[in-house]
Amino acid sequence: MGKDVIIACDFDSAEKTFAFLDKFTGKKPFVKIGMELYYAEGPSIVREIKKRGHKIFLDLKLHDIPNTVKKSMAVLSRLDVDMTNLHAAGTIRMMEGALEGLTRPDGTRPLLIAVTQLTSTDQESMEKDLLIEKPIADVVMHYAHNAKLAGLDGVVCSPLEAGKVHETCGEKFLTVTPGVRFADGDIGDQKRVMTPAEAKKIGSDYIVVGRPITAAEDPVAAYERCVREFVD
Ligand code: C5P
Repeated sequence: MGKDVIIACDFDSAEKTFAFLDKFTGKKPFVKIGMELYYAEGPSIVREIKKRGHKIFLDLKLHDIPNTVKKSMAVLSRLDVDMTNLHAAGTIRMMEGALEGLTRPDGTRPLLIAVTQLTSTDQESMEKDLLIEKPIADVVMHYAHNAKLAGLDGVVCSPLEAGKVHETCGEKFLTVTPGVRFADGDIGDQKRVMTPAEAKKIGSDYIVVGRPITAAEDPVAAYERCVREFVD
């Protein structure tokens, strides 16, 4: 799969989601469905968006015992999503179980991406709350390496970490990066941001963009600008 822009559809209802997607009359963007929308509407929202012709990244960040994750991934795989994810903190065995569950009888499967440390976790909270005392950058790279050992396709990471992840895990190991903002845009609650053009330069494979598109006056124009800066 080549580089692409994934729109984070962080809406709390199908109605709002379709009102947004209806604005796109030409190209069908790759969309991310997260916990908020999935818990609000259930699996039917995935089927409906898929039926409209969009690729889907189902961002549910699974983390449980290997057997439960394996069986849950088998269910998600039948929804025919294109990409899904889990927490690398669930261990290599959990990630291997997830891959097994995700693989369909015909051998195909959605891409599987690991979350390393959430970008909301900083060094202090990692040490105090989780008793992990290594530098956070090392922890992120170690988790990325574990994901690679387990056979996963890549990680979700900050665009600032994408270059290092490729150095550690290889060029083909995918980096999916949120925290993207236009040079002249609002950064909101994101702390470490990059423009789509910078994310391209540093080697992100997919950028995940929410509010710079969903809250734009003209979401289609904002999406097209992202594609121009990141893909073209
Ligand atoms: O609106 P915004 O562009 O900040 O949306 C970014 C999306 O990426 C949101 O859905 C957010 O939950 C997700 N995300 C993130 N940082 C991470 C992991 C996921 O912003 N580390």
